[in-house]
Amino acid sequence: MNKKFFITTPIYYVNDKPHIGHACTTVAADIIARYHKLLGGEVFFLTGTDEHGAKVAEEAAKAGIDPQTFCDKVSQTFRDIWPKLGIQTDYFIRTTNPEHKKIVQEVLQKIYDKGDIYKAKYEGCYCVGCEKFIAETDIVDGHCPLHPTLEIQKQSEENYFFKLKKYIQPLIEAIEKNDNKNHYLVSPPGKKEEVLSKLKSGITDLSISRANVSWGIPIPWDMTQTIYVWFDALLNYYTALKITGQEKFWPADLHLVGKEILWFHAVIWEAMLLSAEISLPKGVFAHSFYMIDGQKMSKSLGNVITPQDLIDKFGVDGARYLIASSFPCDDDSDVGWEKFTLKYNADLANGLGNLVARIAKLCEKSEFSFPVATVNVWERKNLLVAKHLDNLQFDKALSYIWGHIKRIDKEIDEKQPWAKQGKDLENILGKLRIDLLEIASGLLPFIPETAERIIKQFTGPKIKSGPPLFPRI
Ligand code: MSP
Repeated sequence: MNKKFFITTPIYYVNDKPHIGHACTTVAADIIARYHKLLGGEVFFLTGTDEHGAKVAEEAAKAGIDPQTFCDKVSQTFRDIWPKLGIQTDYFIRTTNPEHKKIVQEVLQKIYDKGDIYKAKYEGCYCVGCEKFIAETDIVDGHCPLHPTLEIQKQSEENYFFKLKKYIQPLIEAIEKNDNKNHYLVSPPGKKEEVLSKLKSGITDLSISRANVSWGIPIPWDMTQTIYVWFDALLNYYTALKITGQEKFWPADLHLVGKEILWFHAVIWEAMLLSAEISLPKGVFAHSFYMIDGQKMSKSLGNVITPQDLIDKFGVDGARYLIASSFPCDDDSDVGWEKFTLKYNADLANGLGNLVARIAKLCEKSEFSFPVATVNVWERKNLLVAKHLDNLQFDKALSYIWGHIKRIDKEIDEKQPWAKQGKDLENILGKLRIDLLEIASGLLPFIPETAERIIKQFTGPKIKSGPPLFPRI
């Protein structure tokens, strides 16, 4: 029986064009999705765009176009870029999809009917950059630390509130206790502790409607207000399966997100689901950030790197490798053009590319006929790669594979096949070929096009040299 696996990325705001931060999460999710497919799982991989709220409305107004046209345009740039990165998603959800809107209203109505929503006055601060109510204590020099160029908005309006506090205890138990029927894993462990300690420190109820934002889904029982953009956005994970008729994949096995939105994914989302009596996801993983040469990536600093920039310079698999090998699993990861180029040359042009060329040349010259290899796509030898992938440690998984590449390179130097003949040579080359096929099989989730090329080239019986996999830059 195939194991079902439902993996998601955040749905990205359409106020911004795709950059490598977005690609970080989406490539990572694609690698995990491919890995589960290789294990024989039945996978559903979801991404999409988050299109409502003040931020998007403001951006559309700046561009001088109506919000829907604006969303259509930017959403398409996200939809277009993922296949170019070799990313294979099963559905691309947009929150302006009428079916999504209808289901969001239904879920909200259910929560309202249950008595988990009340009306009260909201007075406080709001960061449009985060689309989040921000506590006075979190404001630094009058600004949100994540959006220092944006003005904090003072708000005072009648809103609908969701009884988030009511769910504190059930959520603590669901996170902490493995045997709890609602148990879900928050990881990495440090992030889980952060979430738990914030939950235990006491939290307030959440305003889930806006009186002053018209670009949103109307509250079904009060058309003068719209649904808070996060309440609408989080539900995409649920509505997408309903829209596609793939409910069998519910609940999600893994929500992969950046650390700045972990609270929404590890607390607010689960509280909404508990209230709506929908089963909870199995896991939420929050990664850290790419920094560009030590700085935050931002339009104003002019240091934004786009996925297309990476593809243009390093090719699809070059881009995927660079994204995965610098994945910010625990700490922020410093990247940039110089680092990328060095890594590309060292690991891909010289490392993998050179090894493949070397072995191919030796085999071609020998003119041996090799037994046709049947490549078991996910070999037992990849168990350690699997262990690292289960922990989302892409860098470790790749270092492990590159350890093999270095070892084999050294082995060639030591065994000097160019000075051997006959059976001796055949044995050496036969083993090198199998080692290389194993490496290629381990690389299938990461750089599928290259891995398949290597597998094809070395399947036998005759092995020929090919063009360089990764031309030096
Ligand atoms: N729309 C919300 C998410 C709603 S999900 C129900 C949102 N969108 S966003 O466009 O701001 O995307 C944020 C996500 O993009 C992060 O959580 C992370 O996955 C990714 N990244 C954005 N910048 C990043 C880096 N600099 N580094 C790594 N990932 C980053 O938040």
